[in-house]
Amino acid sequence: MEVKRENWGSRVGFVLAAAGSAVGLGNIWRFPYLTGENGGSAFILIYLMFIVLIGVNVMIAEFALGRSTGLAAVGAIKTYSHRFTFVGAMGVLSAFLIMGFYPVVGGWSLAYVLESVTGLYAQSPEAIDETFGAFITGATQPLFWMLIFLAMNILIVAKGIKGGIEKAAKVLMPTLFILLIFIAFRSVTLDGAGDGLAFLFQPDFSQVTGQTFLAALGQAFFSLSLGMGAMITYGSYLSKKETLPGNAGIVTALDVGVALLAGVAMFPALFAFGLEPAQGPGLVFVVIPMVFAEMGGLGTLFGLLFFVALSVAALTSSVSLMEVVVSYLIDQRDVQRKKAVYGTGIVMALMSILASLSMGVFDPLPVFEVGFFDLFDILSDKVFLGLGGMFIAIVTGWIVDKEVLRKELTNDGTTKFGLFEAWHFLIKWIIPPAIFIVAIFGIIDIEQTTVMLFGIAIVAVLAIFSKKLH
Ligand code: PFF
Repeated sequence: MEVKRENWGSRVGFVLAAAGSAVGLGNIWRFPYLTGENGGSAFILIYLMFIVLIGVNVMIAEFALGRSTGLAAVGAIKTYSHRFTFVGAMGVLSAFLIMGFYPVVGGWSLAYVLESVTGLYAQSPEAIDETFGAFITGATQPLFWMLIFLAMNILIVAKGIKGGIEKAAKVLMPTLFILLIFIAFRSVTLDGAGDGLAFLFQPDFSQVTGQTFLAALGQAFFSLSLGMGAMITYGSYLSKKETLPGNAGIVTALDVGVALLAGVAMFPALFAFGLEPAQGPGLVFVVIPMVFAEMGGLGTLFGLLFFVALSVAALTSSVSLMEVVVSYLIDQRDVQRKKAVYGTGIVMALMSILASLSMGVFDPLPVFEVGFFDLFDILSDKVFLGLGGMFIAIVTGWIVDKEVLRKELTNDGTTKFGLFEAWHFLIKWIIPPAIFIVAIFGIIDIEQTTVMLFGIAIVAVLAIFSKKLH
């Protein structure tokens, strides 16, 4: 049966929407603080290696799965293999897990838009630090902003692909690029910025462990929106005329570019102000305001623009996360778009409430020894996305017919993909074992072993009972 499927309005629209999904809090909030915690440049190099060797190739695979079937994550994988349907289910679960904490940080960012114009940059560095700590550990304020952020998602996703996501991305993504370049320029011209650049670009491998590799792999998947079917879903809306490898290359380049730019915006300033690189998740909300505080009146303007940009980046990513669940409900469960969006939104709100309150109000969970925020983060980023990517590579390399892939990636032989054989070899032989090895070493090394084992148990249960998912 031919189903008429909504398509992206234009090529630029698709690239921006896919880049909008990729570029988000992962690049501007997460990448810098992980880099800070994992020793700087060595982490960046490992991350870049994973992007080139694994990330971009899995993205090509996801686009191909989505467009060749015209279906979102679960349906696409099911078309090729009933045995692996659980991978689509893992993707839907990952979307829920990420949306269990992403809106919390999105909400912080929205709150900082307002903070920017209500005197944050008139405070001393210590006060800026304390303001953030007090804000995220409180109850009502972060919850309020988180719900506003989620409501924005619901509004956009309810409008559907062309009307909502694409329109928003088209205006907002270019704004973000320009802003970041601006801030990076300011940061590198501060006195004492050189140490920050050295931290970013002179590798020190002495701190590298199995945990560093797992963090870098998780970040590569998280940042490129891979391993959970978001790019399968976006690919399913892509017209048959587009070249998939080319689009994957552009999206990856934009994503890496923004992450590095965010690093350049942050670390020179951080060192210039004599701060510690391992600040943790507060990095962007503490260091950046300190930079702006030093700038006087101009700082308010920069600060305001920065947090608007961060909120926008977060929003164009979170809508893609929500769309993974919503398109599953539409394609596989025949739910109406609006109903799917509201139902999904409510569950995500409940999870995000738990995550937000775990920053200060709730004690860490027994057994896991982390709060809901970290639980959702570790499960999605260190377990589900990596394993999801591994299974997506296995399905693509071992189950989908090689000639079907060749046709899909060359648009029936009308366009060129010179690296097809190399790509197929990597997807089939290299990427699955590489992810497996990184996961094993990461688990051995990581502190939150219980969380990891819990995640793996969920994957195993899903795999074993995958027949029931048909
Ligand atoms: N790539 C997004 C970011 O870097 O913030 C997060 C994300 C979006 C992850 C969509 C996964 C996904 F499917």
